[in-house]
Amino acid sequence: MPPDPRPLAELFRGHFGHRDHLYGELLWHFAADLEAGGPTAQVCRDHLAATRADAVQLRLLAGLFRIVLRGDAPQLQPFYPSLGGTEPPTAAWPFVRAALAAHVEELRSALAQAPQTNEPGRAACLAVGLFEAVRRTGCHRVRLLEPGAAGGLNLHVDRYRVVGPDWSWGPRDSPLTLDTQAAGVRPERMTIVARRGCDLAPVDASSATGAAYLRSFVWPFTLERHERLSAALAVAAAHPVVVDAAPASDWVRAQLAEPVEPGVVTVVWQSITEQYWPADETAAVREALARARSRMPLVHVSMEGVPPPQGTDGYRIADHGPELRVDGDLIARSHHHGPPVVLTPRIVPRPDHRDGILGP
Ligand SMILES: C[S@@+](CC[C@H](N)C(=O)[O-])C[C@H]1O[C@@H](n2cnc3c(N)ncnc32)[C@H](O)[C@@H]1O
Repeated sequence: MPPDPRPLAELFRGHFGHRDHLYGELLWHFAADLEAGGPTAQVCRDHLAATRADAVQLRLLAGLFRIVLRGDAPQLQPFYPSLGGTEPPTAAWPFVRAALAAHVEELRSALAQAPQTNEPGRAACLAVGLFEAVRRTGCHRVRLLEPGAAGGLNLHVDRYRVVGPDWSWGPRDSPLTLDTQAAGVRPERMTIVARRGCDLAPVDASSATGAAYLRSFVWPFTLERHERLSAALAVAAAHPVVVDAAPASDWVRAQLAEPVEPGVVTVVWQSITEQYWPADETAAVREALARARSRMPLVHVSMEGVPPPQGTDGYRIADHGPELRVDGDLIARSHHHGPPVVLTPRIVPRPDHRDGILGP
């Protein structure tokens, strides 16, 4: 008996649960086409047992977006707002179906690639964590290391301008400004003296191919995110960073074995990557950090958290946003894509704290 396509079709329909934008509309059609044995069924034939966490639907949408981005489906461009499209999503399906049928093998390959959303908006959280790292250690020279960096866009944090209602930090002429909307943050003076990342599948964000690849994971109707990404890609093109191909724990261990100049604090930063790590990877990273602490000033900054199931209204950041933690202390939460940043009302000072980051 052929495998039942209905569970995957239900995942597709349930992903957004509405048809108010292009992707909601397409997932509804993908589901029906899957059940009817159309081109979606050919593309997804090896993934009928996939779970929600596999996000097959997002892989498929990104694969399709890549075809549109490189100009091989010009009939679809009018439906992609980030490419200037203004046509209603309800008219897209016949053109999308034809594109699926024309690119079955490429889209089957796309399903093998887990989403690699490199979101420079998360640098807003990173900046707040960096201020705290500098304050705690008194070191104003920073070596920044990022496991799970994708294209390394957040390694450029000091090349972006990060602001709040009563503070600002970073170059005034940066192409990218991130508004945290958080009052009361106290920025710290610092120089990032070294920066480097790793990823299981690094992306060269300074190349046109890498840039298009990163764009393909950003939903085409979230124009603000596309603008942010374009600005960050311009920075990446001007300042390529090294992102090594390596799993997080091996790489963190190797980096922390390197000698570091006196007066430099090593900040190991990670965002929205740990949910993809096997449990032993997480444990090995923690162990490498714990062992290195006696050898160097070291601060671990993380922004992690799996989003809750969402309706059309999203979620309340203060309850469900990913947590910004500095050496385990909860400092703030934000949206998964970055600002706004919601500071934790009170930090319980530890004996080695110089001070907290917040007022009352
Ligand atoms: C959602 S992306 C986040 C990228 C970046 N940290 C950000 O916040 O923009 C998750 C990244 O984690 C990487 N990844 C997953 N498992 C990994 C592992 N065990 N070691 C290193 N990187 C991993 C993926 O390849 C992907 O690029």
